[in-house]
Amino acid sequence: MENIERLIINRDTCVGCSLCVNDCPSKALRMTDDGLEYIGRCLECGHCVAVCPTNSITMPVLDMDGVVEYNPATFDLKPEALLNTMKFRRSIRFFSNVEIPEPVLMQMLEAGRHAPTASNTQKSRFIVLQKDLPRFKELFWEGLPATIEKMKAEGSPALAAFERFLHNYNTKNFDNFFFNAPAMFLIVTDNLWDAGLASANIELMGHALKIGSLHNGFLKRAIPANPKLMEFLGLGENETISVVMLAGRSGVTYSRTAPRKPAKFEIR
Ligand SMILES: Cc1cc2nc3c(=O)[nH]c(=O)nc-3n(C[C@H](O)[C@H](O)[C@H](O)COP(=O)(O)O)c2cc1C
Repeated sequence: MENIERLIINRDTCVGCSLCVNDCPSKALRMTDDGLEYIGRCLECGHCVAVCPTNSITMPVLDMDGVVEYNPATFDLKPEALLNTMKFRRSIRFFSNVEIPEPVLMQMLEAGRHAPTASNTQKSRFIVLQKDLPRFKELFWEGLPATIEKMKAEGSPALAAFERFLHNYNTKNFDNFFFNAPAMFLIVTDNLWDAGLASANIELMGHALKIGSLHNGFLKRAIPANPKLMEFLGLGENETISVVMLAGRSGVTYSRTAPRKPAKFEIR
């Protein structure tokens, strides 16, 4: 065994096939007469680990326990089923307030952190409030009038909706922000693209686990506007919440997929 910074290459099992060398996006590996060598500039994408036919590369800086051997029986999806799953996912606005078991939350988070990230930075933080959500909601509603005043001063385009939501809450006890959801996911990163991909994974995984979700642009706007909420989340002023998503069992059952606008596709 040879310990070379980020990579451990098992020379006893390496067959010198160069698949890792060819697939490495940062050209961090080379094959020499003495065997595989690490040059440097590793992106820590783990492709070398994934592509090696003899499982001869370990990356101690990464979570090797999460690596799973490919097995067609448990990895391959039927394309039709995958598309139907994607088409059948719905934004849920009627949650039943049943707690999501922690292993289910963990599976959703696991799906999120396996999404690709720009330059493989994997810098997103994932926060889930479930036990703490009731306290968070109290702080949210306490602070909402002040948030609305701020929005008035700024001429925010979301002001009318916020005022209506507060009115609905006060007069009808209807919550247009949290919709009775038992859990809330936040993705903290300044890269919206990363956050979008991670949240799509979380949402689809949730769907497979019978957990519905709702991306919530109103909460995404409201939370950073209230310093007490940011403090409650343990977030500094310079940290960006890019996704807020509610999650929980759906109180609505759908019988079919929803229609979309006519497609605007170009294949040329
Ligand atoms: C980025 C984003 C933000 C959203 N914000 C809200 C929101 O604040 N409140 C809400 O009720 N729905 C919100 N939605 C849900 C959309 O309205 C919903 O995706 C759309 O109506 C299509 O419905 P479907 O997701 O069931 O296909 C949001 C969706 C996205 C992608």
